[in-house]
Amino acid sequence: EKGGWSSFMLKEITEEPEAVANTLRERIHEGDVFVPELAALGDEVLRDADRIIVVAAGTASYAGLVGTYAIEAWARVPVDVQLAHEFRYRDPIVGPNTLVVSISQSGETMDTLMAVKYARELGARTISICNTQGATIPRESDAALYTHAGPEVAVASTKAFVAQITALYLLGLHLARVKGTLSEVERRAMLDELVAVPEKIRFAIGEHERVAELAHWMGGTSAVLFLGRHVGYPIALEGALKLKELAYIHAEGFAAGELKHGPIALIEPGLPVFVLVPSPRHSEEMHRKVISNIQEIRARGARVIAIAEQADAAVLPFADEVIALPLAGKFFEPLIAVVPLQLFALELATAKGLDVDQPRNLAKSVTVE
Ligand code: M6R
Repeated sequence: EKGGWSSFMLKEITEEPEAVANTLRERIHEGDVFVPELAALGDEVLRDADRIIVVAAGTASYAGLVGTYAIEAWARVPVDVQLAHEFRYRDPIVGPNTLVVSISQSGETMDTLMAVKYARELGARTISICNTQGATIPRESDAALYTHAGPEVAVASTKAFVAQITALYLLGLHLARVKGTLSEVERRAMLDELVAVPEKIRFAIGEHERVAELAHWMGGTSAVLFLGRHVGYPIALEGALKLKELAYIHAEGFAAGELKHGPIALIEPGLPVFVLVPSPRHSEEMHRKVISNIQEIRARGARVIAIAEQADAAVLPFADEVIALPLAGKFFEPLIAVVPLQLFALELATAKGLDVDQPRNLAKSVTVE
């Protein structure tokens, strides 16, 4: 039930801290990661895994993209994301040591289910990251790593997204333990970051009013761009998808470095551009590059809304608006930074008088190919 909330979507965004906390629960033992569902697959399977392919669609595929950076860094195994509906038609290279990880909130998405079945036929081991107990995809997989976001009713995926990233990070840390690629101290540091995420998401939800104001002055806009680097890139894609599906606005997410390879031609006076700014504390170089991207688009008249860390004073002179968020570790920023983008899409759709829970032409689970 919606309770006192104006929409399921808003209710579900406010449930994101619990979605992360509940997904972590019972998977951390004595300060170290231990995911029983993965242990059931056998350590040998995980140790021998030499390639991971994530199959998913829509928002779930963006969670997968976020996960690639951390899993590669922690477990030193190559990870790529393939859209489930493309996977079968590209003659994928899958061997006995390939792990195919599917991500699906509903566990019923036909494209993803067919990709999982195909991966099994090819001899891969399959792990399902799913939010719905007993759904078809986890039943068709060798192991199921459930997210515990609770039922998601709104068509737009929000709390399931942060829970999916959490599950992927648990997978990455568990693999790193089995493969011996991270020390115990390093694993603990990453787990501490994960445990701190819910409180930071709560802070981001507290920025709702500010985000609503921004959406109000942008009510008449016909296009919005999103830019990010590294883990901020998939968040740019997700911010754009949310806006397309809820507010029916042309929205595009780009890797900030791509700008000069084409998209900068789209910049015109007044165009709103959200920029995900990585904290300079993680990489001064990346931060400097993002600031210079902001200068390039601002010089061409774009209206820049920066999503940045609270203490990042360097961004202030260059952006029109700044949404300031608490510092999080470099892989953990996306879990916080996505929240204002979700709220922005919700508010812009609401300002346009649209039904945010039931956007036109869409269904909550896509059970046809
Ligand atoms: O249930 P699934 O996670 O498999 O659904 C995948 C996509 O259809 C879904 O994430 C879709 O992109 C959402 N409507 C996005 O908000």
